[in-house]
Amino acid sequence: MDAVMSDALVLFGATGDLAYKKIYPALYGLVRRGQFDIALICVARSGWDVERMRARIRDSLENHGSIDEAAFAKLSGMLRYVDGDYQDAATFGRLCEALGDAQKPVFYLAIPPSMFPPVVESISKLKCAAGGRIVVEKPFGRDLASAQSLNRTLHKYFDEAAIFRIDHYLGKEAVQNLMYFRFSNTFLEPIWNRNYVKSVQITMAENFGVEGRGRFYEEVGAVRDVVQNHLLQVIAILAMEPPVGAGSEPLRDEKAKVFRGIRPLTGHSLVRGQYRGYRNEPGVAADSQVETFAAMQIHLDSWRWEGVPFYIRTGKHLPITATEILVTLRHPPQKVFVDVALEPANYVRFRLGPDQVAIALGANVKMPGTSMAGDRVELHVCKVKGDEMDAYERLIGDAIKGDATLFARQDSVELAWHIVDTILGMETPVYEYEAGSWGPIEANMMIAGVGGWHSPKREA
Ligand code: BG6
Repeated sequence: MDAVMSDALVLFGATGDLAYKKIYPALYGLVRRGQFDIALICVARSGWDVERMRARIRDSLENHGSIDEAAFAKLSGMLRYVDGDYQDAATFGRLCEALGDAQKPVFYLAIPPSMFPPVVESISKLKCAAGGRIVVEKPFGRDLASAQSLNRTLHKYFDEAAIFRIDHYLGKEAVQNLMYFRFSNTFLEPIWNRNYVKSVQITMAENFGVEGRGRFYEEVGAVRDVVQNHLLQVIAILAMEPPVGAGSEPLRDEKAKVFRGIRPLTGHSLVRGQYRGYRNEPGVAADSQVETFAAMQIHLDSWRWEGVPFYIRTGKHLPITATEILVTLRHPPQKVFVDVALEPANYVRFRLGPDQVAIALGANVKMPGTSMAGDRVELHVCKVKGDEMDAYERLIGDAIKGDATLFARQDSVELAWHIVDTILGMETPVYEYEAGSWGPIEANMMIAGVGGWHSPKREA
């Protein structure tokens, strides 16, 4: 890790939606923790001035929660604003002036990927470019070929070590805890394999639709939007071998190995769905075939996981907003108690949020009374409210420090595209489902053999 702290943050796309919703609240959070005290140079092509930019940041923070005036004053004291077209050399001339003596700025590209080539090229000509870091947002391409082309563009001017690809799932407290729990508990290791695990399933459910993002979603669909990135990253953390040593690369090596072992998806292992009413959303085609729901089985070819099915299910307009993993253990080898009413409930459950973050162990105990009848209980290993630190706050802080551990590396991004690439252009059926349901019933067939889908519930 190149541990030199950055000395400026340059934000392209400073007047955009992402900056408003995520980046300013994260920077403000860092200021409050005393972890952000470098120049913030906002760049946009909106014809604004620094006062308007400052007002927009205040608005963003007010929308996010209450404002601590002292922290806001600190953040706004660091603010500079550069306006101009991204294709115009004069814009970068002004940026250079604003950067002053900065040697190691972070350049955050919160702009559409189509703008990356001219912007990255102009950044590379700045005098401080050699020490610079580039932060890019998902989507990293829309298939394997475009991801490779995007990576080529970035690598033309910057080394991989200077590129930080944000997948905000990796910055979530609950996802961090998943990794921590896996690699800091001896009791888990002997059972975390094909000999004891029967199946693994992940449900990422959202109880809302595309929320005005219809035009964007039409280009994407559930597989590109959350499976290729967030959910495959979660599988990598669940399935990976322990990293050989500390630091970012051993960990990212192990994740890449998991992706290498996942077979490319086929139409047989996929069920796509679309909520009724999606086609009436603004920006959506009347005959759209884009999926707002996807369920699939993943085959992982590895010594540890051979034969263990991994399932993913995600969808918009499902009954609840929650992401949950269920690792179901095999039945005990013999039935000592004739207890037909009870299916053994041996499992590990991870609730990744958003309202609750929990790790729970499912077990069977004897019900008080004369018969040897069982009861299912759940032991909570941890149960906390929400995310203690916002994912963006953590990730921006890490990029400033130069710690790439929680960022997606080029090989992993491309390997993940390789896994889904086969199904992207495939015309598999898109089944309609009612908003508020658990998606099309066709998705139930694939998982019937291991007891069906586990649907996350509202936590008490
Ligand atoms: C984004 C997707 O990457 O992740 C959205 O584009 C999705 O469609 C979001 O809603 C979910 O993230 P979170 O952190 O809100 O669970």
